[in-house]
Amino acid sequence: MESALNPYSPGSGRRPFELAGRQSEIDAFDLLLAKTRQRRPDRGIVLHGLRGVGKTVLLNEFRRQAEHAGFMVVSLEGRDAEGGPKAIRAKLARNLLQAGRKLNRRGAGTRLVAALGSIASFSAKLGVTGIDIGVNLNHGRADSGSIEVDLEELIEDLCEALAENRSGLIFIIDEMQDLDDGLIAALLSAQHLANQREWPFYIAGAGLPNLPSVLAEARSYAERIFNYRSIGALTREAAEAALVVPASRHGARYVPQAKDLLLDASGGYPYFLQEYGYAAWETAPEKTVTVEDATVAVAIGQAQLDQGFFPSRWKRASNAEKAFLRLMAMDGDAGSSTSELARRAEKKQSSMTQTRSSLIEKGIIYAPALGTVAFTVPGMAEYVQRLSE
Ligand SMILES: Nc1ncnc2c1ncn2[C@@H]1O[C@H](COP(=O)(O)OP(=O)(O)OP(=O)(O)O)[C@@H](O)[C@H]1O
Ligand SMILES: [Mg+2]
Repeated sequence: MESALNPYSPGSGRRPFELAGRQSEIDAFDLLLAKTRQRRPDRGIVLHGLRGVGKTVLLNEFRRQAEHAGFMVVSLEGRDAEGGPKAIRAKLARNLLQAGRKLNRRGAGTRLVAALGSIASFSAKLGVTGIDIGVNLNHGRADSGSIEVDLEELIEDLCEALAENRSGLIFIIDEMQDLDDGLIAALLSAQHLANQREWPFYIAGAGLPNLPSVLAEARSYAERIFNYRSIGALTREAAEAALVVPASRHGARYVPQAKDLLLDASGGYPYFLQEYGYAAWETAPEKTVTVEDATVAVAIGQAQLDQGFFPSRWKRASNAEKAFLRLMAMDGDAGSSTSELARRAEKKQSSMTQTRSSLIEKGIIYAPALGTVAFTVPGMAEYVQRLSE
């Protein structure tokens, strides 16, 4: 079929043609916005799940919803981290300045102008200059140099101004597990305080499956201040919609067995569905995708994954880490016991902790429970096995 019309979107954070199976998250976020406008308390939301399940896409959707509802939205990504914690704080300041600038329209109330001044002083303290948002510094607010105090003051000032218009402040944070401990703690305590004081401030965060435990380690009350949502593979029905709807909008269809073949190969994982759907579209000469087309598409789709999705993680591992991953791959995607891995390696468990934690830090594996590790990338175990063959 015509490549220019290919409706599938394999990649990172790319909005799919059909955002399937995520209505309950979208509704939950809509409810959060609606409650905030009614000045009723709610909880922030944290999405956690494996690579490629659609967390970033959902966060982008949340951003659209919040902007549409007239909220102030500030985005941040934990993995921007060239330059570490300082760079992330500077990025936060720049994004605040940018969002603040948009609010500084004619007729902005005095409260809002003062709150924007707090953004300016917060940013100046962090050494971020050069973005003029047309207000004076609010000296003595959000410029103590302690990130926890300053975030709190900044959020308080912004929320009081925004609440006057039944609006609020939303922080959209992707790859949240990669933020440094200091910033995570400051964000959580700001969220905690906001809940108590009824400031209209909410964090919508996303990250790997270890994110809830990262947050709980930073602040014991983290469990209580968020609505946690595990984002995983799509149900069969949703996966079918993700595959079939984009094609049908373009007058194309799948014969049932071709559809089943592609759905089975994808395991319902959004990224894989996009990759296989894309390959099927490119492969099929006619507007009906046959079993033969689908068979070829699975082979091409997998080759595509083997060239991009998987090696982008594999290549980041050192030799010792690769050896560790090979041992893990024997257990498949379900995860491995660390004592069993040590036994296989004929090493002491303690000698492997360093490798284990650096792989966790790189976001390639995580610890689903005490004494176990699993891949953060669905299908990674099979990929590593294919490499060894
Ligand atoms: N609900 C969905 N239905 C269909 N396709 C989806 C859906 N959600 C995401 N996708 C597709 O899946 C792919 C991965 O999405 P996304 O980048 O949001 O995943 P992620 O969970 O953020 O992954 P990572 O952990 O690697 O950042 C994209 O190609 C996107 O178009
Ligand atoms: Mg993502």
